[in-house]
Amino acid sequence: MGLPFSTRNDALTEQLSPFVVTTRDNRGALDPEPFGLPTRWFIDPTRRDSGAFLDLLQRLDALTFGPEGMPMDKWVFYDCAELPGFIYGFALPAEELSQAERDLFGCGAGYTGPVPFSMYVAIPMFESGAWFGHNLASLNATFPHRQLGGLGSVTKAIALKAFGVQTFFGATQWLSKALFIHTKFGPLDITTAYTPAHSIPETLTYGFTVTDVSLRSACGDPTVSLERPDPTVHLDGADSEAMMKIQADIEGGGAYQMVGAPSFQGGRSIHRLARRAD
Ligand SMILES: CC(C)(COP(=O)(O)OP(=O)(O)OC[C@H]1O[C@@H](n2cnc3c(N)ncnc32)[C@H](O)[C@@H]1OP(=O)(O)O)[C@@H](O)C(=O)NCCC(=O)NCCS
Repeated sequence: MGLPFSTRNDALTEQLSPFVVTTRDNRGALDPEPFGLPTRWFIDPTRRDSGAFLDLLQRLDALTFGPEGMPMDKWVFYDCAELPGFIYGFALPAEELSQAERDLFGCGAGYTGPVPFSMYVAIPMFESGAWFGHNLASLNATFPHRQLGGLGSVTKAIALKAFGVQTFFGATQWLSKALFIHTKFGPLDITTAYTPAHSIPETLTYGFTVTDVSLRSACGDPTVSLERPDPTVHLDGADSEAMMKIQADIEGGGAYQMVGAPSFQGGRSIHRLARRAD
């Protein structure tokens, strides 16, 4: 069963099924059928029999974030996601994986549960309805033979619907390819442009108000088009000095939006920003 609107990624929800990791107590706060898409597997992190699946989630993280140099320890999953919030993603039953795919996951012959192909992790913030996006992973690039293009975008969009997110915040690196996904949700308000508090200071903090239209746009609904301001500033994704200047302006009261996806020009990643009039 797919989404109630057509998208260019419908093949994904036909091939893969959703899972959610959450405690029994938090489960009531979740929409188990976001956009009418039923959740097939619920995994309770406080149960011993969830251990094998949670190991596979960590393996998914290692396969995707490992090469980026930011793999998560297991306690980070537990403390920052599974107990306070949710993990949402798409999976396949183990018996539908090839031997090579099972080997990559280190999935033992006796395991018959779901194997995660994507996940979205968000943490509830103090303000009601506000969430911080903590982790997005997709095996699209790892399993090209499965043609999973769009999986990262669809996973984040449906997860935000399932979690009931109203105001979204996230942090990512200016050179991250994930910005192609994040900008599908509409213009992004920039809170920090240069972030010494992060392990990688060339990180931006961004946010947007979540609407069904922004989620449908990210899912690939061709009937949706979002309004975006014209860019007034162009930022090279490798130019730390320029990031620091924008950060100083923000700290002085300036307001910036990222208006759309970056573009690649001569091997450089160029971001289109709009500085809002004072
Ligand atoms: C980043 C990640 C989640 C992407 O997953 P994915 O399933 O490939 O993502 P999607 O297919 O939904 O979207 C990727 C988009 O980027 C676009 N893209 C990627 N590289 C691009 C490039 N060099 N130029 C133009 N577009 C590019 C793709 O075309 C696609 O957009 P489209 O759907 O409009 O065609 C995945 O590669 C991953 O897990 N990476 C490691 C962890 C990570 O960096 N997570 C994000 C942290 S914020």
